[in-house]
Amino acid sequence: MYLTRLIYASTISDNISPSAIADILDSANKHNKLNDITGVLFFDQKYFLQCLEGSRFQVNETYNRLLQDNRHSDLVLLEFKDISVRAFPDWTMGFIPESVLSKAIHLKFSPRKNFNPYNLRSDSAYQMLLELKELLPE
Ligand SMILES: Cc1cc2nc3c(=O)[nH]c(=O)nc-3n(C[C@H](O)[C@H](O)[C@H](O)COP(=O)(O)O)c2cc1C
Repeated sequence: MYLTRLIYASTISDNISPSAIADILDSANKHNKLNDITGVLFFDQKYFLQCLEGSRFQVNETYNRLLQDNRHSDLVLLEFKDISVRAFPDWTMGFIPESVLSKAIHLKFSPRKNFNPYNLRSDSAYQMLLELKELLPE
């Protein structure tokens, strides 16, 4: 089964409290560990940008579950491709909240300073997540 990378953007649903993020991460880490999925999730208070890497089947299955999750909406697939190496092998789901540093990184890849993942090229989204990865604790 091929190693695959999927990147998508979504918007947090109204009336979702910040504490829901902890539940999302618990669930993501639990499932991803079982399914050998790794990746990162960037969140800027309004939008999510997430990368999942793993077997083609498991990545697809996870994305189908994500599509049903009413804690976010307007999921847009930015990239789905076979890869030869994982970029985030050490994270079952590394969480990167918005910060001063993330804003500086995001501006490098975006036409506007306000983060909007729907306006990112897929390669920019990937490069941006690679740089954001450096902000994760060891
Ligand atoms: C922004 C966001 C990111 C998520 N990331 C993952 C993920 O990486 N892996 C995963 O299995 N579920 C993820 N989830 C949760 C799934 O949508 C789904 O709720 C969960 O897998 C269902 O399993 P549970 O009933 O055991 O919580 C995410 C949800 C949201 C809203």
